[in-house]
Amino acid sequence: MKVNPTKNNTIRSYVKREGRLTASQEVALDTYWDKHGIDFSHVVINLEELYKRRAPLVLDIGVGTGDTTHTHALAHPENNYLAIEVHRPGVGQLLNKIESNNLTNIKISNDDVLDVLQEQIPDDSITQVFIFFPDPWPKKRHHKRRLINKPLIDLIKKKIRAHGRLHIATDWQAYAKHIQKLCDADPQLISLAGNDGISCPRPEWRINTRYESRGLRLQHNVWEFCYGFSRNT
Ligand SMILES: C[S@@+](CC[C@H](N)C(=O)[O-])C[C@H]1O[C@@H](n2cnc3c(N)ncnc32)[C@H](O)[C@@H]1O
Repeated sequence: MKVNPTKNNTIRSYVKREGRLTASQEVALDTYWDKHGIDFSHVVINLEELYKRRAPLVLDIGVGTGDTTHTHALAHPENNYLAIEVHRPGVGQLLNKIESNNLTNIKISNDDVLDVLQEQIPDDSITQVFIFFPDPWPKKRHHKRRLINKPLIDLIKKKIRAHGRLHIATDWQAYAKHIQKLCDADPQLISLAGNDGISCPRPEWRINTRYESRGLRLQHNVWEFCYGFSRNT
């Protein structure tokens, strides 16, 4: 696993508190990274070469322990998946899940999604994007760290295919309002919300992760967004 040389003083949406890797995560990173991991580089990836086939690409941003990516990839062998997560313990967990299920349709990046999208992902290549329970950064002075902001949305729009889907879920009301305002103001993002105009129905395939469970334990609501991408407006 190589270190991303582009890291600089940009405001990041995460703080690297590595914590301790468990023995099993460490073994997974040592043993399986070369098989399923993508090192950072300034070269655009040839997706067909990487996955050894041509298939719809699903991007899961900030996957945590990778449960959603893994469950979705198991259910949809016809798709390719790219999981992006900056914390190595989560990457180790996902590597173990990939190996125990012999999955060949998931690749993992351990770098900041902004760098990966900007440098490594071809334009017009993604069919679905998941951003589930992004860190809420609730304090006002930390709002600048929120992952979902105009630069990320603009990058996603460059990389997503026409008619691609962007799915977002959050359990923070203020973040939900910010996301809705940002995306609704963008004429290329067509909200697929229900009648209340706010929240989409929960997709039946979106599993409950520990981040969502924690929110529900705290009696938070969950706001669900789904946008279709149109290049013509
Ligand atoms: C609250 S967790 C949610 C995990 C998962 N999506 C879920 O629903 O269970 C947010 C994750 O996003 C990751 N993250 C934050 N900023 C990121 C970035 N710029 N690039 C990649 N991952 C990021 C964090 O490390 C964290 O694991």
